[in-house]
Amino acid sequence: MNIAIITGASSGMGREFAAQIETQLRRTDEIWLLARRKEPMEELARTMRIKTRIIPIDIADERELRRFREVLLLAAPKITLLACCAGVGYYGAFSSREDEDISAMLRLNVAAQTLLIKLCLPYMRKGSKIIQFASGAAFVPQPNFAVYAATKAYAYSFGRAIGRELRGRGICVTTVCPGPVDTPFLERAYGDGAPMSARKRKVMVKPERVVAKAIEDCRRHRTVSVCGAPMQALYLATQSVQNILQLFW
Ligand SMILES: NC(=O)c1ccc[n+]([C@@H]2O[C@H](COP(=O)([O-])OP(=O)(O)OC[C@H]3O[C@@H](n4cnc5c(N)ncnc54)[C@H](OP(=O)(O)O)[C@@H]3O)[C@@H](O)[C@H]2O)c1
Repeated sequence: MNIAIITGASSGMGREFAAQIETQLRRTDEIWLLARRKEPMEELARTMRIKTRIIPIDIADERELRRFREVLLLAAPKITLLACCAGVGYYGAFSSREDEDISAMLRLNVAAQTLLIKLCLPYMRKGSKIIQFASGAAFVPQPNFAVYAATKAYAYSFGRAIGRELRGRGICVTTVCPGPVDTPFLERAYGDGAPMSARKRKVMVKPERVVAKAIEDCRRHRTVSVCGAPMQALYLATQSVQNILQLFW
């Protein structure tokens, strides 16, 4: 059985991803939707034509991840696509952030995403694809978004590095780096604190655009997907600086 796995499928970009990808998947029998909340995934599944399997799971919990390992062992699927869209971010000064929030960002954005990819790799073959969400926050350190940006710098570096390692196996890794996107993520990130800056609000895009670009970039075997001119300019600028710095290392 060939399957696609989408994490973060109960909201935002994961949900949009499932909606857009179902018509584009070839040789895939089922889409497995993963997130903690079951109801939004059931609602999504009702709108989809492809067979879906809903797996309510906290991927930041290692015991639940171990249980998912057993689900995979039992089903022994071929994973044609793994889209890691689950993620969390909290805005605010590092020193006043609750330990719990810091730990949630590190466990989900860094550990869970890494371990889930490792877990799925034995089920991937030549032509399988991994799409993982980092962020434009990966490109430059972000005061007041320090931990979140650092977790996304990790995802960016990790995605590019394993992409190179997996090239020989014919597995393509695309790391998606959007700027602000209009999803429930931002509401949770900013909470009752300082509102998002007007500069960020100006470059905010719809999830449909980010996801369509990510799917297209993945199809073209691009390693990084950056949506919209302002974010692409930031990406190119930071890449140029890094390339210059490397000349002196
Ligand atoms: N929106 C933005 O401005 C923006 C910008 C750049 C990058 N990104 C990145 O893009 C990705 C998608 O973000 P989004 O905007 O779609 O956010 P979102 O709407 O808040 O969705 C986040 C998803 O992650 C899932 N999730 C959270 N904690 C989880 C856990 N412990 N176990 C399993 N699933 C969990 C949530 O489902 P449950 O709550 O049901 O578990 C939800 O489906 C994230 O990696 C985010 O960092 C977002």
